Amino acid sequence: MIESIRQRSDVCKVVGEVVSLKRAGKDYIGLCPFHKEKSPSFTVSAQKQLFYCFGCGEGGTVITFLMKFYSLSFVQALEQLAQHLGIDLDQYQKNSQALQAERKEKQQLYDLMDYVAHIFHKVLKHSDSAVQARKYLQQRGLSTETIQTYRIGYVPEGWDNLLSVLQKDKKNLDQASQLGLISKKRQSNQYFDIFRDRIMFPILNDKEAVIGFGGRVLEGEGPKYLNSSQSILFDKSRTLFGLNIATHYSREEKTMIVVEGYMDQIMLHQYGIRNCVATLGTSLTRGHAQTLKRVVDKVVMLYDGDQAGLGAVKRSMKPLLEEGLDVRVCVIPQGDDPDSLVRKIGAEAFGRMIGQSIGILDFYHLYFYQQEKNLSLKAEHFSDLVQWVAQLKNVYVKKVLMDGVKRVFSVDDSVFQSQSAWSDFHPSETKPQVQKSQNIQNTYALEEAMVLRVCAELPEMRSRFVEESIVEWFEHPIIKEQALIWLDEISQPSSENTPFTASDFVEKWPEEETRPLISKIFIQDWSSEKHVLEKIWTDCISKLRDRKVKNLHKALMEAEASGNEQRLQELSKQMQAVKKQQINRDLGELAPALGGHDERR
Ligand code: UTP
Ligand code: MN
Repeated sequence: MIESIRQRSDVCKVVGEVVSLKRAGKDYIGLCPFHKEKSPSFTVSAQKQLFYCFGCGEGGTVITFLMKFYSLSFVQALEQLAQHLGIDLDQYQKNSQALQAERKEKQQLYDLMDYVAHIFHKVLKHSDSAVQARKYLQQRGLSTETIQTYRIGYVPEGWDNLLSVLQKDKKNLDQASQLGLISKKRQSNQYFDIFRDRIMFPILNDKEAVIGFGGRVLEGEGPKYLNSSQSILFDKSRTLFGLNIATHYSREEKTMIVVEGYMDQIMLHQYGIRNCVATLGTSLTRGHAQTLKRVVDKVVMLYDGDQAGLGAVKRSMKPLLEEGLDVRVCVIPQGDDPDSLVRKIGAEAFGRMIGQSIGILDFYHLYFYQQEKNLSLKAEHFSDLVQWVAQLKNVYVKKVLMDGVKRVFSVDDSVFQSQSAWSDFHPSETKPQVQKSQNIQNTYALEEAMVLRVCAELPEMRSRFVEESIVEWFEHPIIKEQALIWLDEISQPSSENTPFTASDFVEKWPEEETRPLISKIFIQDWSSEKHVLEKIWTDCISKLRDRKVKNLHKALMEAEASGNEQRLQELSKQMQAVKKQQINRDLGELAPALGGHDERR
């Protein structure tokens, strides 16, 4: 319903009621209603259904506009739009045909998912083609009972294993494709299976309904885990694996343990540690935090001790804290993950280890601050933390953490005063939004977001984005997060049919603060000519690469100074990879020039 209301509304019309708009090329411009100005810098795009003010940095979709201009809640804004369109929401909600049809369709999708999980499970248990898969799971130590509880399944090698069963049982193929289970070939009308030769882990919602799958390769090629794509049933930014089972136990224990992997969650369960959920290969979002907060007040993040794991903890702390959750951290010694460790040391010792989890400030102190030998980097870690705490929106949590910082780092109030953190307690002194988005701009977030827009407009760039692992160079946590989710989407074969719309992207953007920036990047008037977009791409990529090289360089010096051999090796490997890409790129750009056929040169 929300989608349909938004799609049928026109941002130009809605804005036009309160701002006098003039046509300027493809867009409209007018005087910004959010700040005082004499010449118009407020832009509204009919085509993209976005607005953005180049003066004050305010921006968003039609819904954002209504919320900001009339100070409405999201629902109130929707109601107003519905009224405009002549949709009676009450009527709609009560018993409209549309809603009933939607419910029916949704139920059919649930039924189909359940049926498919049943097929996969049956194949794993009984089929001759699953001998290897059964052996593999046995080797990994999964009990028959666990396989049963989790309804784990298998789909053999081949392009039409699922497809032929669906056809034989006269299932709705269109729906199966909506759920990301099968996809259509580009040229013909022929469907094919998306999951091939994979162990299938059904992902259930809190009502025990299957909403998606994680599929693990046995030995073959391709990504280790393939997740089914986002659908009406499956919202990855809110879903946690194992929640259906863990909710009950976590209420009992008053704590939820969060791990990174499917196998980690499953193995802990098998060992009797049942208040545990796993994220689905992305870092924790605000949506996840909200899901958790509905169940518990306290969370223990149980993450790997490698660089990636520590970084993920750091990124995930904020959404959890903003939601008011009490967050503790338990770091697995390097070389293990929860799955391997619990099998090594047993449930009892494992439980003791979790009992010794530490608070997030102690975590930060121990794993980032204390580890750092270089003084200036140490100072940087500290000031990062102080700034980070100062930016928290939850005032209560912020107060507690500020006191904590003073205690853990033995410093006094002045550190916060110098960070102007106190002013955030007094709304009258808060900084205007422009400064925030400028802050963001200085960190190359702009370039990161522009790369995403090029991918959106020029589908052929998506494969380069994937192949060259460009997302590795991203640093802005939210943009990186969104890029990963999006990457997951577009790497599904079924994504070719999904059109990309700018206002969808902006609407789904999870952070209020940066949404205007994203609107800006998508509203900017770019030529749609391929070579212009490619030029933007090349420019942004080279900036991001330079930053990566610089950071790597810095880290290398660091590792050298502190004599950390392992890290040194890891870093120089990364450095080599970046350099090699650069050389390949340079050669690639040289080649047409040498051939002399490219008209552009
Ligand atoms: P890990 O690589 O740590 O895998 O990824 P794991 O859980 O230990 O898996 P096993 O033990 O090798 O089987 C952690 C999580 O990241 C996501 C999955 O959700 C995985 O459980 N992931 C990982 C993906 O989505 N895709 C991948 O290619 C890899
Ligand atoms: Mn593992």
